[in-house]
Amino acid sequence: MNPFILSAYHSPKYFCDRKNELKQLMSAVENNRNVVLSSLRRMGKTGLIKHLEFNLKDNHNIVFVYFDIMTTSSMNDFIKLLVDSVFKIQKNEKDSLYKSFVNLFGLFKPSFSVNPISGETKFNIELSEKKETETSLSAIMDYISNHKKKFVIAIDEFQQIANYPEKNAEEILRSKIQFMNNAVFIFSGSSRDILKSMFSDKGRPFYQSSEFLYLKSINHIEYSEFIADQFSNSRTKISSEEINNILEITNAHTFYVQNLCNRLYAENFKVITQAEINETFGKIISENSYYFENIKHLLTDLQWKLLKAIAMEGKATGINSNYFISKYKLGSVSSVNTALQSLMKKELIYKENDCYLIYDLLFSKWLTTI
Ligand SMILES: Nc1ncnc2c1ncn2[C@@H]1O[C@H](COP(=O)(O)OP(=O)(O)OP(=O)(O)O)[C@@H](O)[C@H]1O
Ligand SMILES: [Mg+2]
Repeated sequence: MNPFILSAYHSPKYFCDRKNELKQLMSAVENNRNVVLSSLRRMGKTGLIKHLEFNLKDNHNIVFVYFDIMTTSSMNDFIKLLVDSVFKIQKNEKDSLYKSFVNLFGLFKPSFSVNPISGETKFNIELSEKKETETSLSAIMDYISNHKKKFVIAIDEFQQIANYPEKNAEEILRSKIQFMNNAVFIFSGSSRDILKSMFSDKGRPFYQSSEFLYLKSINHIEYSEFIADQFSNSRTKISSEEINNILEITNAHTFYVQNLCNRLYAENFKVITQAEINETFGKIISENSYYFENIKHLLTDLQWKLLKAIAMEGKATGINSNYFISKYKLGSVSSVNTALQSLMKKELIYKENDCYLIYDLLFSKWLTTI
């Protein structure tokens, strides 16, 4: 098996570090604190949540519920997914739990369907009426509150609730969550700004209700040891210098490190030198070039030029200075500012300590080659 995992999680053996982050999450679970987990895309939020789940799996007093609300578009979708995830977890007790749930609240239209091939029974819940959204949410939350066990409920891509048509989605949710003594919530997402204002703006329902955990890139030393370890079980030799080069070229951004190492491992090289690293990384970039070229059609000429300028700089500062504008022949300050805002909104770039960077590292490298 290739030890460099590209899907969210396998087991601790293939998971690098995150010891402090795991400790913080374990402590939050133990002490009933909710957590907002955020990071740049593909830094490892979902992996960390799954790692936490793995580490809690022997604790029979805990029910771990994970769901990703990226594809939901209303509170109703949210509740359906929550109910589905809660009951999926409780597979063995499903029938009796389901019965007591329906008897108690009588709000859901339950149905069973049987898969004719596997014989597996599928349990479906349909919410009765839209107007009952709040009551339905109360029902599932009360069900959880009345459970003997502690629930850890991880909601991935949580910023999505800001897009629901219900203006009071945060309020409804917060009002139900705040009185639950046996549930710890992990709100995870990559829109740091949206999550930050959701949880730290005074007027917002979730204000100061959770602690923050911002996931940075994995420590170089830890990642180096991990990579060396994984290669030590193969025929491929790789020096610590080359491992360092992998971390440099990928900015130690988890997904890019994993992807590059996965490819290098799969090639079954005898020795990995800088040449193999560059060639393999180049292949990964060019495989994505069709997608990158398409981005150009979605942007104005100035936005594209600015994107290229930022890529050339790597970390761009003073974008609206005369120096930057004339270096890259960008035109007027006001149009550069407008283009900058638009690139931020499209999540093609992000800001870190007064520097602007291209979100997708591969895209950034590709832009410098065209
Ligand atoms: N600590 C880790 N060690 C090894 N691989 C990891 C680690 N954390 C995450 N990964 C891998 O890195 C990739 C990205 O991780 P993950 O999907 O968890 O990121 P994410 O922050 O949830 O991304 P997104 O913002 O797109 O949801 C995955 O392939 C995952 O397997
Ligand atoms: Mg994720």
